[in-house]
Amino acid sequence: MIKGLILGILLAILLFGGGVYYYFSSGHAPVATSAAPIPLERTLVRVGLHAYLDKLPHPAPQVPADEPNLIAGAKVYKEQCATCHGLPNEPKTAVAQGMYPAPPQLFQGKGVTDDDAWESYWKVENGIRMSGMPAFKERLTEAQIWQVAVLVKNADKITDPVKKELAAGASTPMEMAMPASKPAPSKKKTP
Ligand code: HEC
Repeated sequence: MIKGLILGILLAILLFGGGVYYYFSSGHAPVATSAAPIPLERTLVRVGLHAYLDKLPHPAPQVPADEPNLIAGAKVYKEQCATCHGLPNEPKTAVAQGMYPAPPQLFQGKGVTDDDAWESYWKVENGIRMSGMPAFKERLTEAQIWQVAVLVKNADKITDPVKKELAAGASTPMEMAMPASKPAPSKKKTP
């Protein structure tokens, strides 16, 4: 009786494992970025990320959200993040449009202003698996990561000098990523 039950459970596990393997090995799983998501893909990744973040310490920002730090954060942002996460009043880049999952536009709507800075710090430091979000650990300093984290936290209340720093950078990756059909946005002369 018990033996039969155990055998049944083992068989079910094997069948499930085999089914999942077959799903991938037979070429049924979507592998293109433009294809439909795998069933439950987003949910599982979200649940996993949140459960993991909940277990971490939640440090207070190590830099104050004052203008010098926000300007320093803007420098990092326009060089490393804008291609995917966009700039204030700029259209989405071709890169951002072509990604799955889509990178949230951090200067549109509420962005991540409702997340604590430590959460964005962690995401920038470590990246997000199964998305295009890169890890910047050892490529940016801890101070730079905090500066860009407090910038995106305060994206809805940045001052003109910070906006100016963001706009002053349509130099490299952003322009290269613009859809070819559209001329690069003209640089704003003011303020
Ligand atoms: C190559 C594209 C790319 C670059 C460059 C990039 N990101 Fe991301 N980022 C993403 C994607 C895609 C996601 C969405 C991940 C998801 O949905 O799980 C993301 C997610 C995030 C999130 C979490 C958003 C949320 O709603 O929880 C933050 C914060 C973030 N990125 C900040 C940054 C910062 C700051 C930089 C620059 C230092 C940066 N990213 C560079 C693609 C990028």
